[in-house]
Amino acid sequence: MNKVRIAIIGLGRIGKIHFENMHFHIPEVEVKAVSDPHTRIETYGIPYLSLEEIMKHPEIDAVAICSPTNTHADYIEMAAKAGKHIFCEKPHDLDLARVLQSLQIVEECGVKFMLGFNRRFDPNFLRIRSLVEQGKVGDPLILKITSRDPGPPPVEYIKSSGGLFLDMAIHDFDMARYIMQKEVKEVYSKSAVFVDPAIGEAGDIDTAVTTLTFEDGSMAVIDNCRKAVYGYDQRLEVFGSAGMAKVENNFPDNHSLSDGSGVHSALPLNFFMERYTTSYLNETRMFVKALVEGVEVPASGVDGLQAMKIALAAKKSITENRPVAISEIK
Ligand SMILES: NC(=O)c1ccc[n+]([C@@H]2O[C@H](COP(=O)([O-])OP(=O)(O)OC[C@H]3O[C@@H](n4cnc5c(N)ncnc54)[C@H](O)[C@@H]3O)[C@@H](O)[C@H]2O)c1
Repeated sequence: MNKVRIAIIGLGRIGKIHFENMHFHIPEVEVKAVSDPHTRIETYGIPYLSLEEIMKHPEIDAVAICSPTNTHADYIEMAAKAGKHIFCEKPHDLDLARVLQSLQIVEECGVKFMLGFNRRFDPNFLRIRSLVEQGKVGDPLILKITSRDPGPPPVEYIKSSGGLFLDMAIHDFDMARYIMQKEVKEVYSKSAVFVDPAIGEAGDIDTAVTTLTFEDGSMAVIDNCRKAVYGYDQRLEVFGSAGMAKVENNFPDNHSLSDGSGVHSALPLNFFMERYTTSYLNETRMFVKALVEGVEVPASGVDGLQAMKIALAAKKSITENRPVAISEIK
C-alpha cells in the first residue's frame, strides 16, 4: 500500500481538522468518503456516504472515527469486521468492558488500530520525551502537568462526555505514561466545581488535582480546570536526578509591550484547534506511515486502555475520597 484511502466518520470540531489535514496536507492519503448524519461541511466533491456504504466500499482501506464518544466502540467493531484499519479519536469508550471487547475484535480481525492521543506528536512534548529517553534529566522523579481549558464545553456535551477525567484529563494521563515511560500504580484525586454550578448539577466536576504514583515510586501531579481566563494552559515539567526539563505555552507571536503599567505580551494560543495544529498533522502522518510501512502504531489500544484505567481510578478516588490502586480497576 503506498496511498491510504480513508473515510472520515463525524465532521464536527475534530473531524473537520482531520478532513482538512488529510485532504490538503498529506499526499499519501486519499479521502474517499465522509459520513455525518447532521453536519455538512465543504468536502470539495468528496461524497457523503452512509456508514454501511463505507464499510462495504472495496476502495476504502481505513476509517477515521471522529463521531461522538458513545459511537466509537460500535464503529470500531464494524470497521474491524469489514477489514478496515482504524484511527479513532479518544476516548475509546466510557465502559471498560466495551473497550476490552472491541480490542479483542480488532485483534481477531488483524487490522491496525490507533487512538487519537495527538499530544504525543506535539513538538514540545516530543522534545521532552526525547530528553528523558536520552537520560538528560537522569532518573525522572516528579512530573508536573498543567492542563486547563479556556472555557467549559456546553453542559449538554459534558453530560455525554464521560466527565472531566475520561474526556479531558485522559490526554494528561496518557502524557504522564508517555513522558515517564512507566506504568501508574496508584491514583489520588481531589476535585471541585468552581467554574459553573451547572457542571456539578450534570454530575461532573470542573477542577481537579491528581497525583499519580508510578511502579517505581516516582510521581506525577496533574492539575486540570475547565476554565482559564487567559486561554489554553498546556505546560509540563519533568524533574529528575540529573536535571529538569520543561515546556511552556505556545503563543501566536512573541512580541512584548513595555509601558508604565508593566510588560505585556500575547495570550497563549486559545484552544486545541490552534495549539495542537502540528500534532494533529503529525498524528495522521504516523497513522499513514504505520499502514504504508507496516510498522507499529505509536498510540495503541493498550495505551488507550491504560489511560482509561487511570481516569476510572481518579473517578473512584474522588467518590471514595482515598488513593485507588490501578489493580482495583477491573
Ligand atoms: N484529540 C483531541 O484533541 C480531541 C478534540 C476534540 C474532540 N475529540 C474527540 O472527538 C470526538 C468528537 O468530538 P467533537 O468535539 O468533534 O464533537 P462535535 O460534537 O463537534 O462533532 C461530532 C460530529 O459527529 C457527528 N455525528 C453524530 N452522530 C454521528 C454518527 N452516529 N455517525 C457519524 N457522525 C455522527 C455530529 O453531527 C458532529 O458533526 C469525541 O470523542 C471527542 O472526545 C478529541
